[in-house]
Amino acid sequence: MPKKPYAPIHQNIHSWYKSEGRHELPWRNTDDPYHIYLSEVMLQQTQVKTVLERYYFPFLKKFPTLRTLSETPLDDVLKMWEGLGYYNRAKNLHRTATLVDKLPCSIEELSALPGIGKNTAHAIASFAFGQPVPIMEANVKRILCRLHKLKTPSQKELWEIAYEMVDKANPFDYNQAMMDIGATVCTVSNPKCESCPLSPLCKGKENPTL
Ligand code: ADE
Repeated sequence: MPKKPYAPIHQNIHSWYKSEGRHELPWRNTDDPYHIYLSEVMLQQTQVKTVLERYYFPFLKKFPTLRTLSETPLDDVLKMWEGLGYYNRAKNLHRTATLVDKLPCSIEELSALPGIGKNTAHAIASFAFGQPVPIMEANVKRILCRLHKLKTPSQKELWEIAYEMVDKANPFDYNQAMMDIGATVCTVSNPKCESCPLSPLCKGKENPTL
């Protein structure tokens, strides 16, 4: 294995993201950690389209800061969450707002907050604080499994590979791109391997339905 096997792929992913990435998503155009955190929590169990069209902006209009959220009774927060489901997410958001004025930037401290699991902590660390860490949502998992031809990898194995692979010079674009590639190129069925920026390294090309 060369010392930096992923360097050419980082270039490919970067170029791909520039031309094909979903740059218009509002949570990709803010550096407010609370806004990024809110988007990640909403996106845990809800599709981008629903979050974007019906929930993200109204919620932020009503609760523009963690402080406003903490000063609001939980029932009012739940009202804004109506229809999104998985209401524990809203309860945890509210509880977090009562615990901190500002989100911490370390993965360890983020993970200690209610409702922030390992992936969400990594997403916030990378997107809000520019930390060179990977994320691990379903799309990324599928890409890694195909890329390295892994059938039943452990979480530990997946995270180790993800840490090795992340573009430490540009973790924001890399992580956002990986989600977009999973959503539009390395899809569950009929993946478009011919237009995939990871294809030069991919071991799953001949059998991408894995
Ligand atoms: N799902 C989780 N986080 C996301 C993000 N930042 N952009 C698009 N989809 C996502």
